[in-house]
Amino acid sequence: MLDTLGNLERTHTCGELRTSNVGEAVVLMGWTAKKRDFGIFTFIDLRDRYGLTQIVVSEETANQAHEKAKNVRGEFVIAVKGTVVARTPETINKKLPTGEIEVQASEILILNDAKVPPFQLEVVGSENLASEDLRLKYRYLDLRRSQLQNNIRMRAKTIAKIREFMEMRDFIEIETPILLKSTPEGARDFIVPSRIHTGKFFALPQSPQILKQLSMIAGFDRYFQIARCFRDEDLRADRQPEFTQLDIEMSFANQEMVFRTLEGVMREVFALIDADFETPFPRMTYADAMRRFGSDKPDLRFKMELADLSEDLRETDFVPFATVLENKGEIKCVVARGKADYSRKQLDELQEFVKRYGAGALAWIKIGDELTSSLLKVLGQEKIEQLAKTANAEKGDAVLIVAGKKSVVAASLGALRVEVAKRENLIAKNLYKPLWVTEFPMFEYNEDTGNYDAMHHPFTSLMDEDVPLFKRAIEDGETELLGKIRARAYDIVINGYEIGSGSIRIHQREIQNLIFKALGLTPEKARERFGFFLEALEYGTPPHGGFAAGIERIVMILQGTDNIRDVVAFPKTASAQDLMMDSPGVVDDAQLKELGIKIVE
Ligand code: AMO
Repeated sequence: MLDTLGNLERTHTCGELRTSNVGEAVVLMGWTAKKRDFGIFTFIDLRDRYGLTQIVVSEETANQAHEKAKNVRGEFVIAVKGTVVARTPETINKKLPTGEIEVQASEILILNDAKVPPFQLEVVGSENLASEDLRLKYRYLDLRRSQLQNNIRMRAKTIAKIREFMEMRDFIEIETPILLKSTPEGARDFIVPSRIHTGKFFALPQSPQILKQLSMIAGFDRYFQIARCFRDEDLRADRQPEFTQLDIEMSFANQEMVFRTLEGVMREVFALIDADFETPFPRMTYADAMRRFGSDKPDLRFKMELADLSEDLRETDFVPFATVLENKGEIKCVVARGKADYSRKQLDELQEFVKRYGAGALAWIKIGDELTSSLLKVLGQEKIEQLAKTANAEKGDAVLIVAGKKSVVAASLGALRVEVAKRENLIAKNLYKPLWVTEFPMFEYNEDTGNYDAMHHPFTSLMDEDVPLFKRAIEDGETELLGKIRARAYDIVINGYEIGSGSIRIHQREIQNLIFKALGLTPEKARERFGFFLEALEYGTPPHGGFAAGIERIVMILQGTDNIRDVVAFPKTASAQDLMMDSPGVVDDAQLKELGIKIVE
């Protein structure tokens, strides 16, 4: 028989009581995290969102409660009336904020029972954690774990801090529609069929990009939104099909103003974990980031820069290297400090690792008591010594070398650098290294279509210095120049994560037209997709710029997790499914008919 709550109210939470409360009569309610039975005493760890309190039930002083406690099992919801008592020095639990007291129960009410959970909830760290799929199916139970509770609370605090900051600075929160038309972020859209307009579809926003720009044209001057975005793209450890952005746009803004605003937001948010951010953030151009770190989101918590060996090998007759250099590729390396003792097996593993990024092989030099190298036979001792010198390697180090197309060398060594740092524990905990990456290329060559795509999005303006080059590319048909044109686009990177991006926008119709032309969009196509926006540009558009930061990525860093699902209350799996609700699901025939949709197997 279950008890009823009636008029009973909690006096305290399970995380609240301290020695200053000793002697008070209290009522606590929560879930039974653990029960230990010692005959005449029963101990219950009572859990709620705020913490854990130890309840002690004694047969001698509270016989009825003791009897009741016999029926209590894991995850039962109970209410406890009792008195706060100090624990004896030997029984104090320093790990618990409430560990100096316990509540001596006089009465226990069982408010609800619970089935045995399909997995263990009281686990320390990630040991003994059930499989993620099982936990996602019973997400509401997994969310009871303190780790996830903390993550979701930190997410809420982050958003609250952001709102407070933005409102203080006169930004207006504007909600933009979810039922929209295709937006230009370059991923696939999620589409929603219209019942009233059979055969027509809305698209969910990949971001509110166009609407925030329209808000500037509308005169709102400073916009922000905690905006839900939807992208049907390949998922990764830091991507979800739906996610949330802090979306910002400012009128009459230059890059410096946008930077100052974002640096302010980030400082406030990281203060939540007492991390001190130095502002202004350091800056690095995209070209430098790629050259030095092989990545446009370099993790600056450790050094290990890439070194270029191409010049040293320019005259080589070692065919694989000579071919790479002839084809405008490059040969670069990273130095693993103190790793001259890498075993054959470890080097093979690292080679397999870089192959995932398209590298053909990983060559190496080890500077142990003697110099050894996978290239010794083909290049000779002298050349190897020269390469080690160029790489700035010293006795005890290993040099890891990749040759190939520039993009492949960057991707594989950029990733290898991080992999080696992780394996060798080079990354300090609780260290946060923000960076602005600037001067992104405007266009990116798409090998599949043979066209140029916008690297950020088509509303990004060009760097003034590159406008003449752009005009040449368009007017004289020298399209290959497009790859050289830089945009006024920038990212914030923290600890190797792209936290957000933005740009100064195009506010003149003619330039917007030229960009669409460069992207291979005919005037008709441009009008069909963005006509309303192109028209709006003609009605007095202020110069403007903005930014969007991924809330999940920020909270991931704050909470020290590299799994995005850990910071989303009800996430999708890596294959874009909700295992709890079992969605996406089928729709019945009647509904499909109403929408005029037929499923083709
Ligand atoms: P962008 O596409 O770079 O820019 O997105 C901005 C930031 O949003 C986050 N993000 C994601 N987070 C989780 N899952 C995803 N699938 C995902 N995709 C993006 C990242 C990213 O840096 N409209 C422009 C912004 C602007 O120009 O103002 C935009 O959306 O943290």
